Amino acid sequence: MRLGVNIDHVATLRQARGTFEPDPVAAAYAAERGGAAHITIHLREDRRHIQERDLEILSRTVATGLDLEMAATEEMVALARKYKPTFVTLVPEKREELTTEGGLDVAGNRKRLAEVTASLNEGGVPVSMFVEPVEEQIAAAREAGAGTIEIHTGSYANARGPDEQFKRRAEIAAAVRLAASLELSVSVGHGLNYYNVKPIAAISGIEELNIGHSIVARAIFVGLEEATRQMLALMREARGGL
Ligand code: PXP
Repeated sequence: MRLGVNIDHVATLRQARGTFEPDPVAAAYAAERGGAAHITIHLREDRRHIQERDLEILSRTVATGLDLEMAATEEMVALARKYKPTFVTLVPEKREELTTEGGLDVAGNRKRLAEVTASLNEGGVPVSMFVEPVEEQIAAAREAGAGTIEIHTGSYANARGPDEQFKRRAEIAAAVRLAASLELSVSVGHGLNYYNVKPIAAISGIEELNIGHSIVARAIFVGLEEATRQMLALMREARGGL
């Protein structure tokens, strides 16, 4: 099982002062040294953290792989085709949100998302779609041409109490099985941290976890390389050491 490390918040800190540090490029190296299978960045319409310059440099310097999270807009499709990240993850985007709040409504936007996916694929960029653990959305992602889905784990991460958490985990496990039966590769992410990651990492069929906030938060105290290593160790423990 792989870990993708989202380094957006390294750029958030830099943008808070409008200066040159901390540099997401240095962060990417550190996360890779800690065992990240790829680096994730979200280039948002409002450019609140990652800038186009970061995308440009990271697309040349990341040694593992670069996952570009982006809205399905013409501007972003053009940028993805220009810089050719290893793959893109299509996400919904609202200016007023603090972070990506829900999954993509693929079922309600099939035609548009199929066109965007075809254009990205034609430009040599594979597509993943960030969706809720909901059958209709997963089936629609398959129809729209996604090769991978990332299942939104926010409902699990925000669950109040063990009963609700158990239910949300079961929904995610069912969604993973459905996606696998549709021959989609499956990753998961959002709101996962050092305390809640193990039950999710233990779900068989999940190939990859994408984690940002909690790793960057821990990196303040132990460094990003070590924070990445600690998260990977928990994931492997959950899978019986694999
Ligand atoms: N996956 C996707 C698609 C996301 O948008 C985000 C947040 O940027 C994450 C994973 C990581 O979430 P978190 O920062 O809560 O770990």
